Amino acid sequence: MVDFNTLRQKLPHAVNERLDPWLETAEIFSEMRNPRVMGSMAPSAVRGLILKSGKRHIRTDMPASHDAHFNWSYDHDHPEMQALYERAKQAQWNGSHLPWSTSVDPLNPEKPLAPLDLLDLDAARSVGINLQGPDRMRMVHSMAGWMLSQFLHGEQGALMASAQVTEAVPFMDGKYYGATQVMDEARHVEVFHRYLSEKVGKMYQVNDNLFVIIDALMTDSRWDIKFLGMQIMVEGLALGAFGFLYQYTQEPLLKELLKYVIQDEARHVHYGVLALRDHVTQVLTPRERQEREDWAYEVALLMRNRFMAYEVYEEWFEGTRVTRQQWRQLIMNSPGMQRFRKIMFTRLVPNVREIGLLSERIRPAYEQAGLGVYFSGKAASELSGDQMIAELDQHKI
Ligand SMILES: [Fe+2]
Ligand SMILES: [Fe+2]
Repeated sequence: MVDFNTLRQKLPHAVNERLDPWLETAEIFSEMRNPRVMGSMAPSAVRGLILKSGKRHIRTDMPASHDAHFNWSYDHDHPEMQALYERAKQAQWNGSHLPWSTSVDPLNPEKPLAPLDLLDLDAARSVGINLQGPDRMRMVHSMAGWMLSQFLHGEQGALMASAQVTEAVPFMDGKYYGATQVMDEARHVEVFHRYLSEKVGKMYQVNDNLFVIIDALMTDSRWDIKFLGMQIMVEGLALGAFGFLYQYTQEPLLKELLKYVIQDEARHVHYGVLALRDHVTQVLTPRERQEREDWAYEVALLMRNRFMAYEVYEEWFEGTRVTRQQWRQLIMNSPGMQRFRKIMFTRLVPNVREIGLLSERIRPAYEQAGLGVYFSGKAASELSGDQMIAELDQHKI
């Protein structure tokens, strides 16, 4: 296997800087273990990482290849999903009724949008980034805007994917429930977009890795891969990421907005667990299950260390003496981003376990990636949205 760090050290600085995005792409591919997973993800990776399809144009078409599954009996076929549908109808809320009149100043150090330690100031200074005075809050503003923009893009992915899943899912009760999720996701797109445009005042493009994952699940014809990708992986990570910002933001409107969104997302992940648990353990062949296990693991890796906020780097430091690699190190090691990753995986890994995709075969790989500490947490089916909010309020994670 190529040792990318040694290779980087051997290259002259200017070459290194120019090649860094390509080396990173090659590194992602070299980490993939299952050739079938690599084959299914490769077209999306080319579109996202190389062609930058999410950034080049204002519109992107993703071809769908799944079957829309009709059921003419209309019989209820999944009591737990039926119960979830009833709960979802009761829990609908109107994004227009959030306290939008709240005045928000993203540069106010008394009410920061995001934690102040998303970048370690001492470490930043050691590579020549001096964030004194107003620059510190400007950076918090950028990082919060970047994070919220990725939430927004993820929500658009969830809106499209939940519509696809509603068509493709074989359970009648899954279709009823899925329709409520489509409405939920539309509302999430609405409120994040409104918050970004009216209160934050800046928006960043979709992160390349997030684009790859969305593209992969939107274009895959298998309904359970769509579920796994959106309901378990993207939603699971989003639930953690929303929880992180909910816990640390001191801006009251954002906190209120996130509280509502988290409660919806908790239901969405619960739905994913219900739909996949029996399918993975009882319907899939051992080979198909292995492929899903590897797929989930690769997506977890894509997300683990890849939320590097390069879009913020490009805005602030591209073309300066601060290199992309130095930025990556800063983000990797900052206390705030380490907590961010911890909360994300606390929510994600137990759900992978719950649906039967954390076999003895794959566990060592998660352990090697530093994700073994999350094996025994509570899955979405064991926690309600209210319980999640209570845990976050008490800083239990
Ligand atoms: Fe959502
Ligand atoms: Fe969702």
